[in-house]
Amino acid sequence: MDNIFKFKSKDEIKRRQLLGKGAVIWFTGLSGSGKSTIAAELEKVLLSSGMRAYLLDGDNVRLGLNSDLDFSSEGRAENVRRLYCVASLFADSGTIAIVSAISPFNKDREKAKEHCRKNACSFVEIFVDTPIEECIKRDTKGLYKKAVSGEVLDFTGISSPYEKPEDADIIIETLKIPAKKAAREVADYIETLLSIKEMTEYLCETAKEAGDEIMEIYKRDFTVEYKDDKSPLTEADLMAERLIRERLLEKYPDIAILSEESTDDLKRLKNPCCFIVDPLDGTKEFVKKNGEFTVNIGLSYFGKSILGVVYAPALRRLFYAAVYEGAYEYDFSDEYFTEKTAIKASDRKENLKVMTSRSHLDDETKELLQKNADKIGGTIKAGSSLKGCLIAAGEADIYYRTGYTMEWDTCAMQCIVEEAGGVFLEGDGSAMRYNRENSLNKKGFYILNNIENKFI
Ligand code: ADX
Repeated sequence: MDNIFKFKSKDEIKRRQLLGKGAVIWFTGLSGSGKSTIAAELEKVLLSSGMRAYLLDGDNVRLGLNSDLDFSSEGRAENVRRLYCVASLFADSGTIAIVSAISPFNKDREKAKEHCRKNACSFVEIFVDTPIEECIKRDTKGLYKKAVSGEVLDFTGISSPYEKPEDADIIIETLKIPAKKAAREVADYIETLLSIKEMTEYLCETAKEAGDEIMEIYKRDFTVEYKDDKSPLTEADLMAERLIRERLLEKYPDIAILSEESTDDLKRLKNPCCFIVDPLDGTKEFVKKNGEFTVNIGLSYFGKSILGVVYAPALRRLFYAAVYEGAYEYDFSDEYFTEKTAIKASDRKENLKVMTSRSHLDDETKELLQKNADKIGGTIKAGSSLKGCLIAAGEADIYYRTGYTMEWDTCAMQCIVEEAGGVFLEGDGSAMRYNRENSLNKKGFYILNNIENKFI
């Protein structure tokens, strides 16, 4: 590989414009789980809506390109490698490449994801979740029977392991949703992904409009009321809430909304796609007039944060990101959103800059910071979701938050942190999911520039 150099065509951009954007849609699950049925249905739905789509089915590819491979872990790794290399070439030519393969190992699927990211191509991991008992019962190919009797060796789920994805983009429970409906939902998701740039621009404009209106109130006297939980509420919160809701409904009437300042409509649970909004995060900072408050608009799809906009109007800083599109800071010298700077979490491994909250520093966090004092090179205080954005921008490295938070406190900044290459996890190390019945997150969370800097 040392003597191989990547050839970069000068017409790459032109080709992309001409052929459109592709993506890799990766179905993983046990044999007989229903992957290929849903994948084939998805191909049909996409083709009938005028998109170019092509299904690479594990079984079929093993009859040709991969006919030399066995089912050992090395054979499967190579099977997956060839599949993602081919799929990303299809995607590069503007096709939605659908892969259906057991792909039982996390590390192989992670490589597929990494490869696609390197090649600027969206990668959607779909876990087709069917219990092994059900697959054995279906046994359409009679292979489970042969595996149990020992006639077929290394059979996934019987004599070879299947590692469930830890944080799949979409989980399809085939015992709960028919294949056609699942395929339709995945097709809608793909449509959103393909137009996510325009959506991000609209949400940036909306956050900017709300933030600029908030500043009008900030500059003059305003009254402060206190909610039942003793948190402050100002006319700026209510105005921003109204404005953002209006703008979202105008353009995206089919997407649900969960917002801090309005009654929760639980119909959102039936909608896989939900805006998660905090119209004015850091009302305490707003009241104290220290400038560290933000407008937050996030988008959760199938429970994952896939788009985020955080605007701090008093500081004139606007951060945004969308899944597989990267994270950026808007340049305020340019009124028309044409200029942006890509942001990236720092690669510091020592002298870490720790973010601390302006309003909460509990004993547990204090103790954790003391225990890891040798790794810390300084602390920075900031209010609201700015903390995550500053880590995403490489200005700080670590933030630990214990105690309760709400979904709207984190949804927008999570996408910004992740797209900037940082890590955002719940306090116990699990992935944070959104649009849940109860919007309260009880486990706290942490943000790191790099997973290796996790405090213990
Ligand atoms: S993968 O594990 O390497 O991703 P792939 O999806 O390509 O597998 O192929 C799986 C298909 O091969 C199964 O659906 C089944 O029909 C067939 N098969 C034959 N032997 C095995 C085996 N030992 N384990 C799993 N699938 C097998």
